Amino acid sequence: MVTGEQVLNKEILPGVKNIVAIASGKGGVGKSTVSVSLAVALARTGARVGLLDTDIYGPSIPIMMGITEKPEIRGEKLIPIVKYGVSLMSIGFMIAEDTPLIWRGPMVMKAVEQLLTDVEWGNLDYLLMDLPPGTGDVQLTLAQKVPLTGVVIVTTPQDVALLDVVRGISMFRKLDVPILGVIENMSFFRCPHCGERSDIFSHGGGEAASKKLDVPFLGEVPIDLKIREGGDAGRPVLVDDSESPQSKVFMNLAEQLVSRISSLG
Ligand SMILES: Nc1ncnc2c1ncn2[C@@H]1O[C@H](COP(=O)(O)OP(=O)(O)O)[C@@H](O)[C@H]1O
Ligand SMILES: [Mg+2]
Repeated sequence: MVTGEQVLNKEILPGVKNIVAIASGKGGVGKSTVSVSLAVALARTGARVGLLDTDIYGPSIPIMMGITEKPEIRGEKLIPIVKYGVSLMSIGFMIAEDTPLIWRGPMVMKAVEQLLTDVEWGNLDYLLMDLPPGTGDVQLTLAQKVPLTGVVIVTTPQDVALLDVVRGISMFRKLDVPILGVIENMSFFRCPHCGERSDIFSHGGGEAASKKLDVPFLGEVPIDLKIREGGDAGRPVLVDDSESPQSKVFMNLAEQLVSRISSLG
């Protein structure tokens, strides 16, 4: 277990009002998809938003945001790449694509520390941080050392009640990181032809599990072709049609998140 003092106190990012971690019990549940969409949704509300990809195992945010260039360095600072109204930085910019990843907690922490302090984030209302999946060393170190406003847990209906998620929640609780809420992704399917909803994994599991674990439930995201295509194409659904049902899902989630953060006081 990695322990240590909170080295990155609030002084280090004085211009950032809220740092929100997006976590999941395991990979492939849509953590990055949700991070990207929430970031774009928050930016749509007029907030100043940053997105920091710290997933060393799969830094997919640049692809999902359609970014091919590397960040510029000005003076001593890295300049975030601004896309769709969101300032973005990724740990992927710091690793060559073919490098095998044998990162340990302290190495990741050093890289993340750089991504926080050596980046010209400027003034932000929200800095979302896409964490690596799971509850290993890396997540533990991050949660301990970064002054988080709170954490959002992304899960799928199948694993919502599983040990992975429960373990994640209890880890953040132990570290006194407020659980902002659970988002259930790939929750249901709505037929694009007839509009009928199918609850493939039965309905209400996420909400029920959240109640049981005594954490807020922020909402559900359907499994949806456009959401997947948007991610692959580097154009999140909100960018092309902010009135689509898919976009509204993320706008609602962003609203829930904001109200949850303001309720923390
Ligand atoms: N709601 C969704 N509907 C359809 N596809 C999704 C949805 N959420 C995620 N995906 C797809 O599932 C895959 C894994 O998602 P990703 O966000 O990369 O997961 P994670 O970051 O948790 O590993 C990606 O191909 C993504 O496009
Ligand atoms: Mg990811």
